[in-house]
Amino acid sequence: MSAGTVLNVRASSGSYPVEVAPGLLDAVGERLRALGAEPGTGAMVVTDESVDRLGYARRVAESCQAAGFAVTVAAVPPGDASKSLAMAELLYNRLLDAGVRRNGTVLAVGGGVVGDLAGFVAATYQRGVRFAQVPTTLLAHDSSIGGKVGVNLPRAKNLVGAFYPPAAVLYDVEVLRSLPAREWRSGMAEVIKHAVIGDPELFAELADHPVLECPPPERAVHLVSRAAAVKVKVVEQDERESGLRMVLNLGHTVGHAVEQVSRYELAHGEAVSIGIAVEAFIAVARGWLDERDRLRIKDVLTRHGLPTTPPDYPLAEVLEALGYDKKHGAGGGWTFVLPRAVGDVAVARDVRRDEVEAAWENARKEGA
Ligand SMILES: NC(=O)c1ccc[n+]([C@@H]2O[C@H](COP(=O)([O-])OP(=O)(O)OC[C@H]3O[C@@H](n4cnc5c(N)ncnc54)[C@H](O)[C@@H]3O)[C@@H](O)[C@H]2O)c1
Ligand SMILES: [Zn+2]
Repeated sequence: MSAGTVLNVRASSGSYPVEVAPGLLDAVGERLRALGAEPGTGAMVVTDESVDRLGYARRVAESCQAAGFAVTVAAVPPGDASKSLAMAELLYNRLLDAGVRRNGTVLAVGGGVVGDLAGFVAATYQRGVRFAQVPTTLLAHDSSIGGKVGVNLPRAKNLVGAFYPPAAVLYDVEVLRSLPAREWRSGMAEVIKHAVIGDPELFAELADHPVLECPPPERAVHLVSRAAAVKVKVVEQDERESGLRMVLNLGHTVGHAVEQVSRYELAHGEAVSIGIAVEAFIAVARGWLDERDRLRIKDVLTRHGLPTTPPDYPLAEVLEALGYDKKHGAGGGWTFVLPRAVGDVAVARDVRRDEVEAAWENARKEGA
């Protein structure tokens, strides 16, 4: 295995490693042993059917078997619809059938959907069993860190969940090579988001050398671990999202609204990219952000094949979607995370409707 990196995340439950390296899939069993999981105990690999077909779950299962664990694999249909209470119940039954007890382990081998679902199941099955994340999408550098797990209700996304930090995040960058181009781009939106929030050096690298597909292992390790490090730094300071963690929502206030109005036709990262672009206009109008920096941010998004022009949606619909956003402040005005510079963001709690309207129109005009 060539060189990787390990970040340690300090959490209230103790610290956990985020290991980023090529070839990790085959070392998962060994890593579990090192974390204190006893040979002979049960482990369930949760994955989705597409990831399963690529053979990743099987490799993780074989590695766990070789390390002495009793392994089962459960594959759910791909897509956000699998993040449901019904699917969680199905997995509880699979765990029972397999005889997995409190000393057992749940492993999420997949993207954010599998990570959120498997983590929720791990947090609640027998009041909590060992949980490890084996992310397989670029976006999952974001979702696998920080301990937020959960499922959707038909009426609201991510409404039922827990804070349940994993025992480890084992990120094999080689699996990213099979990601479809659109999934790669969508993940890059979150990488760029993290660079804007807290890593100007990474941002400059992306501006000079856009990463349009999965790069060779060494660069992939660098990219993922630098972006992950920004998230780690923030969640360490605010595990339970009482304040600072909100900065991770850069681009997501407008992004979620746009995603919703698109009826989820837009990929999450595409919506976030549009969100960052619109929100940057608000920041410029407030005098928070230099126009030059706004253009730099927009260019990096564009050069990664991401959209920055809002689609031709009725603005009223977008504003209505914004109204239902959980970040909508009670006291007159929306709460937005706005860039102040590349590598620096701040929270505004008093963003007015007309500011959002003007930013939306400006972003539309710029793309016309
Ligand atoms: N918990 C958190 O903090 C957090 C943060 C951000 C997002 N999320 C959640 O993450 C989810 C989105 O995650 P996602 O974008 O990873 O989506 P996803 O898990 O649906 O994966 C995207 C698609 O890529 C496929 N895929 C996965 N790995 C692959 C690979 N290596 N090669 C080829 N195809 C592969 C999957 O089968 C799926 O079809 C959403 O449900 C979102 O709410 C959670
Ligand atoms: Zn996101």
